[in-house]
Amino acid sequence: MDKMQDVIKLLEEYHQEHIIKWMDKLDDESKRKLVEQIKNIDLHQIVELYETTRKEIEIKENKIEAIKYLDKEKINPIEKERLDDLAENVIKKSQYAVVTMAGGQGTRLEHPGPKGTFKLDVYGKGKYLFEILAENLKEANNKYDVIIPWYIMTSRENNDETYNFLEKHNYFGYDKDNVILFKQGELPILDMNGKLMIDKNGFIKEASDGNGGVFTSLRTSGALADMKERGIKWIFIGGVDNVLLKMCDTTLLGMAIDKNVEVASKSVVKANPHEKVGVFCKMNNHPKVIEYSELPEKMAEEVDSNGELKYGESHIMCNLFTIDAIEKVSKEPLIYHYAIKKNSYLDEDGKEVIPLEPNSYKFEAFIFDAFEFFDDIAILRGKREDDFAPVKNKEGVDSPKTAKELYEKFWERNKNVLVNAS
Ligand code: UTP
Repeated sequence: MDKMQDVIKLLEEYHQEHIIKWMDKLDDESKRKLVEQIKNIDLHQIVELYETTRKEIEIKENKIEAIKYLDKEKINPIEKERLDDLAENVIKKSQYAVVTMAGGQGTRLEHPGPKGTFKLDVYGKGKYLFEILAENLKEANNKYDVIIPWYIMTSRENNDETYNFLEKHNYFGYDKDNVILFKQGELPILDMNGKLMIDKNGFIKEASDGNGGVFTSLRTSGALADMKERGIKWIFIGGVDNVLLKMCDTTLLGMAIDKNVEVASKSVVKANPHEKVGVFCKMNNHPKVIEYSELPEKMAEEVDSNGELKYGESHIMCNLFTIDAIEKVSKEPLIYHYAIKKNSYLDEDGKEVIPLEPNSYKFEAFIFDAFEFFDDIAILRGKREDDFAPVKNKEGVDSPKTAKELYEKFWERNKNVLVNAS
């Protein structure tokens, strides 16, 4: 009873009285569960997060410089072999693991299920996104005669469905004992007025806390401890939705080892100065990805002495970290950004509302905000047509249609080639 009174007071203090009204409609057991949930939500943090949506983005005085990179295509074959050898040595010693971030909501794609369960219409028969990733990893396993542990980050919302799907498809031939699912953290979704929303089960609507949640979740779920036990030294972290993602690029790993850095990332050149992607730079001497919305127009268009965009290396969610780097970032607070998204909810009469337009704020930490905690990063410039075919939107750019075309063209060019080390 005390607990209930505490929660009511908190809800009043943070102007969420509509939840008190909602609680009144519930039976005792549902009420108890809801109170438990609210006890675990930091309402103060939520109010602060909502306030960030009211403010103009502040551009501070920062020293911004272009980032150095290595162009994979321009590395001479002897140097490339040297880098590849450094990496192969790590992989063959079973010191390499892969994390797939699959905890997103995939709202833009509008696929009714976890994004990895989306079937891309390739070669008539189609392939699931998880299947495409499994194929990429199996190729590396065969080449190096190892089984790379594959960690998949899910959300509370999609974990069971992801697990059941992978079971049903026999992990697409991947060794089941080396596929480890772990759940990421959550934050409440707010409506446009900063109010908590009710989900279809009558609880506070929450969603995963962004791909930047990967570091803390790796630690708190025990996945990081599992990696340590296995003797893992390097961890690749990628998204679930790039069908040309190479998760074992030996040149990327070799370059990171050679440069003696803790973090590495593969980039592709921006399609045009105004493409809406985050680009790498150095800010106040630390690596950073600067969002397109925060990059002044003049800088977006600036070219270097070779006529190339000075800030042209886009972040494509293709990142590599040492295990120590992950541990370090997992203990640092990353800032939260907000996105306006479509989220269904129950109205005060308990009727489900499915919005046609974005109606809510989702708060997310971004993986690339972790780069600032390091002095340096190794950037390997890949090629768009070889490395980047995202499935983001239902139609138009970065949609299943564009990804299918890129995927089929890539495999047309690379028949019988080992793609990870190419
Ligand atoms: P996006 O930021 O593109 O989000 O995720 P999304 O969920 O796939 O799609 P929208 O924005 O709702 O349409 C990039 C990668 O990060 C993962 C996604 O699963 C994808 O692999 N991600 C994103 C998470 O794992 N957790 C999150 O909280 C957010």
